[in-house]
Amino acid sequence: MKVTIVGAGNVGASCAEYIAQKQIASKVVLLDIKEGFAEGKALDLFQTATTLGFNTSITGVTNDYAATSGSDVVVITSGVPRKPGMTREELIGINAGIVQKVSESILEFSPNAIIVVVSNPMDTMTYLALKATGLPKNRIIGMGGALDSSRFKTYLSLALDKPANDIQGMVIGGHGDTTMIPLTRLASYNGAPVAQYLDAKTLEKVAADTMVGGATLTKLLGTSAWYAPGASVAYLVDSILSDYKRMIPCSVYLEGEYGLNDICIGVPCIIGANGIESIVDVQLNESEQALMQASAEKVRAMNTALSDIL
Ligand code: LAC
Repeated sequence: MKVTIVGAGNVGASCAEYIAQKQIASKVVLLDIKEGFAEGKALDLFQTATTLGFNTSITGVTNDYAATSGSDVVVITSGVPRKPGMTREELIGINAGIVQKVSESILEFSPNAIIVVVSNPMDTMTYLALKATGLPKNRIIGMGGALDSSRFKTYLSLALDKPANDIQGMVIGGHGDTTMIPLTRLASYNGAPVAQYLDAKTLEKVAADTMVGGATLTKLLGTSAWYAPGASVAYLVDSILSDYKRMIPCSVYLEGEYGLNDICIGVPCIIGANGIESIVDVQLNESEQALMQASAEKVRAMNTALSDIL
């Protein structure tokens, strides 16, 4: 199985690293527009193969889409990342043109690929990739919910002082500081509702920390995060290539699900060999459904910025 990662920056390189270390694919191609950059990252990563004992090959190319041909999955990380104080939404002008061009170039050489969108603002970029390529909706997946859910579970584990892998939970809605919806009511500590152990104020803080999870890291690091984003993409790619049919919250085109139409936004999805195999209908209560509507309105407002392109 072959995976192409477009953009060899921090997120793209971390993603390649996890895919290789876990041997999720036999081939990884890193592509970047900066001369020699992807080649360098790929060579450095590939030189860990004998030490770490993985069989995945990693190659890097400068803007050579022919080298990506026949990819099963293509991950788009290209575009500019956030600087401290910036919102993901402020990136739209620069990133929209890039994402459109990249998705068209990819399909020229990998007409059957499933596309995973990471570039921000992620829900709008997913919508753009879908509209620009005309691909069926199962083949365009925005990865935000996978990352946001991992941050949610981490903050819950810290608040509970329990192992992170004993926590279940998901974040739906947009991948933005004010559009994420951490579903605290449904989160559990190995099946026991977290509300049995954490008071309402703590749960509110966990939700608030989750929503600004990316911004917190941008402030600390001076640029946006990469380990958790890279790992979340690798997790998603693993479920596609191994057809695990895991339930992962992803940004997907909705046609009536959750009362929403003509929008890409985070909802729980079954991820398998066909990409988005189905959307899981989680029964939201009234206030959660209202949050979903409000989140969708903000994402929709952002999508209007695409009117020049689409
Ligand atoms: C973040 C970026 C990848 O949330 O959107 O860290």
